[in-house]
Amino acid sequence: MQDFIQFLTKSPVSFFAVRALRRKFVDAGFTELSLTDPDWQVAAGGRYYLTVGDSACFAFVLPEDLSKIKAPVYRMIGAHTDQPCLRVKPSPDMRQNGYYKLNIEVYGGPIFSTWLDRPLSLAGRVTLKSDNVFEPEVRYVDLKKPVLVIPNLAIHMNHDVNKGVALDPQTDLLPVGGLTEGQDATLLMDALCVALDVKAEDILDFDLFTYTTEPPCVVGFKDEFLSAPHLDDLVMVHTAATALMAAKPQTGVNIFCGFDHEEVGSRSRMGAGSETLYILLEKLSKALGRPHLTEDLMESFMISGDVAHATHPNHPERHDPVLTTYLGKGPVIKIAAGQSYVTQSADYAVYEQICRKAGVPVQKFTNRSNARGGSTIGPIIAGRIPCRIVDMGVPILAMHSARELMAVQDHAYTRKSFVTFYNE
Ligand code: CO
Repeated sequence: MQDFIQFLTKSPVSFFAVRALRRKFVDAGFTELSLTDPDWQVAAGGRYYLTVGDSACFAFVLPEDLSKIKAPVYRMIGAHTDQPCLRVKPSPDMRQNGYYKLNIEVYGGPIFSTWLDRPLSLAGRVTLKSDNVFEPEVRYVDLKKPVLVIPNLAIHMNHDVNKGVALDPQTDLLPVGGLTEGQDATLLMDALCVALDVKAEDILDFDLFTYTTEPPCVVGFKDEFLSAPHLDDLVMVHTAATALMAAKPQTGVNIFCGFDHEEVGSRSRMGAGSETLYILLEKLSKALGRPHLTEDLMESFMISGDVAHATHPNHPERHDPVLTTYLGKGPVIKIAAGQSYVTQSADYAVYEQICRKAGVPVQKFTNRSNARGGSTIGPIIAGRIPCRIVDMGVPILAMHSARELMAVQDHAYTRKSFVTFYNE
């Protein structure tokens, strides 16, 4: 759990989650590969990782005896590195009534009200001028200290606020970063120049995202809960990546996939909707000397790991009347007739048996029949890769809040089920 809390703290946005993963894989003896290498040299028992576009990360481990590989050949667990938040727009400086504000747009589907009145910082990527027009210099930045806040409107000016209030992102969610009358104040650019030790004219562009600076904490009279930002989906990223490092495959090739851009539909080259995973599998099967990738994939298995909804303590009526999903009672298989979750009983029964074998309790979730619910990477991957898939996840409350809530115990349960999947 301490390792997970550290990972959360180091991963305010996807770029940093991938950096934290890279550090973990390097420390665990993994060798870096690149998708731009035409031929991979891999060895029996080898451990490898690669990153794509700074915000997606993949890793795999080979068995000690490659001649023993048999179906299911590729055992994959996928999760996503991004989370709903606010993204800084280009030329973001706004000055009004003595305040310095930033122009932002919404990334994914955050619960807007949870971003109000919280100390916020910014992290992401900055691109700088370079000699090669095709390769601007890329630097990462995490301002770390709270620099922004989005103040609520006082109740005296908004008497109906406790009856529910609509927030307009273009007016209500603009964060304040200072007090200045100066019409040319560029507090953000000034902070970036100091943080990166560069001149303003060298900065071309940036991908900067807000995050809440309050650290994760354990909550509850008996310490059962973890309250933290970005549990969706870093709890699945962390359990899957650390299970990959711990497992020793006998007959299968174990793969971890951390995709970006799930919260906005997965359509990017770092996302699950791209060809990236297929390209990786093509290179890997070629390196392993396995000529029949399509057939291997038809006999392969993927666990699509994304958080699930626990039944809400104050709103059980919003959930299925029969299938209660409890915090602390193990990972949840997600099922939807409309295939917003991959729903083939012969496939999700596989994960159920893995949990049984691991001695881990397992639960099932369906949407209420009159509610639409969400979706995830499972169905998107199912449309590109002909393997068997189950959608599952750690149960959480307050999904897409700036701070989400899970049970401490479910981290260990889920990780154990993943180690069993990779070892079986
Ligand atoms: Co998610």
